[in-house]
Amino acid sequence: MCGIVGIVQQKKTKIGKDIVDALTRLEYRGYDSVGIASISNGKILITKDEGKIAEVVEKVNIGNIIGKIAIGHTRWATHGPPSKENAHPHTDCSGEISVIHNGIIENFQQLKEELVNQGHVFQSDTDTEIIPHMIEHLIKKNGLTLKDAIIQTVKRIEGTFAICVVSNLDPDKIYCAKRDSPLVIGINSDRMFCASDIPAFLTQTRKVVLLHDEEFVTLSYDGYEIINFNTMKEVIRKPHIVSWKPEMAQKAGFPHFMLKEIHEQPNSLADYIRIKQPSLSKITEKLYNAKKIFLLAAGTAHYSTLTGEQLIRKYAEKPATSIISSEYESISSLIDEDTVILPVSQSGETMDTIMAIKHAKDLGATILSAVNVIGSTITRYSDEVLYLYAGPEIGVAATKTYTAQTISMWDIGLELGKISGKINNAEYTEARELFNKIPSVVKQTIVRNEARTNHIASWFAKKNSSFYLGRNLNLQTAKEGALKMKEIAYIHSEAYPAGESKHGPIALVEEDYPIVFVTPNDQSHKRIISNIMEMKARGATAIAVLEEGDKEIGELAKWKLEIPKGCSEMFATIPYVVPLQLLAYYTATRKGLDCDRPRSLAKAVTVL
Ligand code: M6R
Repeated sequence: MCGIVGIVQQKKTKIGKDIVDALTRLEYRGYDSVGIASISNGKILITKDEGKIAEVVEKVNIGNIIGKIAIGHTRWATHGPPSKENAHPHTDCSGEISVIHNGIIENFQQLKEELVNQGHVFQSDTDTEIIPHMIEHLIKKNGLTLKDAIIQTVKRIEGTFAICVVSNLDPDKIYCAKRDSPLVIGINSDRMFCASDIPAFLTQTRKVVLLHDEEFVTLSYDGYEIINFNTMKEVIRKPHIVSWKPEMAQKAGFPHFMLKEIHEQPNSLADYIRIKQPSLSKITEKLYNAKKIFLLAAGTAHYSTLTGEQLIRKYAEKPATSIISSEYESISSLIDEDTVILPVSQSGETMDTIMAIKHAKDLGATILSAVNVIGSTITRYSDEVLYLYAGPEIGVAATKTYTAQTISMWDIGLELGKISGKINNAEYTEARELFNKIPSVVKQTIVRNEARTNHIASWFAKKNSSFYLGRNLNLQTAKEGALKMKEIAYIHSEAYPAGESKHGPIALVEEDYPIVFVTPNDQSHKRIISNIMEMKARGATAIAVLEEGDKEIGELAKWKLEIPKGCSEMFATIPYVVPLQLLAYYTATRKGLDCDRPRSLAKAVTVL
C-alpha cells in the first residue's frame, strides 16, 4: 500500500507545496519514504528521500518546487527496504520518464532480467523501476509514442498497479493506469488531480471520477480522457460530487481506522495469498531441519505464534515452543547454533523481541521472522523474512495484522506438512484450495456480524468483567478476543481454556456474567457444550461464535455470532476472531472511547 498523487495545472505555482499537502492526507497509506517528480525548463526534476513526509520536506525542501505538473508518492515498502534509492519516483536510463506506483508487480523479476540483458541499468530494488525502463525501451527501440509505450507496458505487467507517469517528452500531461489498486481523478476549473484516494485533493475539489480496473487516463489541465487499455475503447464517465469531509475520507468513510482495518482483512489476506515469497520454502526447510525451535513475540503477535507452535509440532513433529519475548530469559540457556528462532511482529520494532533475537543471534541461532513492516529492525536481524503484506495498520489495536500473522503460520504449517509427508499430495491440494478461500469467508463473516456485534455491544458496554473461552487452536482466538476487549473497551476480559475454566475461574460467574465461547464445529464441540452448560447453570450469559446452523450451541447461547457454513475447520482461527474484533470495537464506541488511540498504549512498544 502506497499513496500516489499527481497535479497538472494551467499556471505555474508552488506545486511542491500542494503535492506535500496531498501526500500528508495520504500518509496513512505509507510513510517509509517520499518523492516528487516535476518538470522544470523541459527537464524532469526528482526530489526524494527516506523518511516520513515532514522529515523529507525539511531535508530536501519539496515545498518550494514550482511548476505546472508534478507527481508525488509516499511509500509503504514491499520490494526493497526503505531508502532514498527505493523511494519513488523511478526513472528510465535517460531520466526522461518518471513513474510512481502503488501495487505489486508479480512478474517483475522476469521483466527486469529482460531489461538488464537489453542494457538497462537499475538504481533500486523495487518492482516499480521496470516500468520506466520498459516504456523507454518501447519508445527508443520500437518507435512507439509515450502514450502507446505506457499502454503496452501495463498490458505486460502481471499483478496490481495504480501508476502515474510524467515525461518531458509530453510535458503537459500525466498518464495513469490502474488494475486492482485504487486511483481517482479530481477536477477543478484550471487544474486536475489524480490520487490513490479522495482525501488527497478534498480541500481543493469534491468533483471526482472513480477509475475502474484496466483503465488508462490522459490527464491535462483542462480535461481527462479514459480508455480501456485492453480493448482501446473510449470510456465515458461523468464526474460526481462527493459529500465527504477530509477527515472522514482519510478513513475511507469509516469512523475509525480500527473499523477500516477490520474491513480491510479480506483484501490484506488476499494480498498475502497472492504474493508468492521465495522465503517461504527456505523458512520451512530450515524449520524442518532444526533441532530446537522457539517462536518469540509480544501481545497479539504472541497469540499467532501459539498457532504456529501447534502447527510446527503437528506437521514437522518438532518440539516448538512459543515464548513471550519479555520472558526470553527463561529459555536463553537453551539457545545455540542448532536453534531456530521465529519472531513474529507487526512493527518489527518491538524492543522485547529485538533484545531477545539479538541475544539469540549472538549465540549462533538462526532467525527466521514473519514481519509486516519491511526494512524494520527485526527484518534486519533475520536470516529469512516472510512478509505479512497487510499494509500500514494505524489503529493501535492489531486486527488485520493478527489475521495476517495467523495466515502466515498456516502457510508455514502447510509447507511443513508437505515436506514431512504428514499431508499427502491430495490433502495438500485440498488444503490450499480452502486456504485460498479464507478472504471470502472473512468477508462474509464481517457482513453477517457487524449489526449483531453492534447490538450486543450495548449490553456488553455495561459490564466490568468477562471470560473468553475456547479450546485447542481456538484458545488463541479467545485470547486475542479478550485482549481486544481489554485494550480498547477497558473491560477486564480473561481468556481460559474452556475445560480449565471449572478449575477456579468459574467462582467469579454470577447472574448475567458475560462469557464469550469460541465454538467451531470440530472435535472439541461436544466438550464445549458441557462447558457452556456449566457456566449457564451459574447464571452466565453466553455469547457464542459458532458455525451457521449449529443448533446445539445456538440453543444455549443468548447471542450468536455466525461464521458461514463450510468454513474450513482447519483455518477456523482466522474468521472466528473477526466477530470478536467487531464486538470489542462496538463495545468501545458505545462507551464513547477512542478506539484508535486507547489509553496508555502505543502502536510499537520500543521500550523494555
Ligand atoms: O509490532 P508487534 O506485532 O511486535 O507488537 C506486539 C504488541 O505490542 C502488539 O500486538 C499489541 O499487543 C497490540 N496493541 C495488540 O492489539
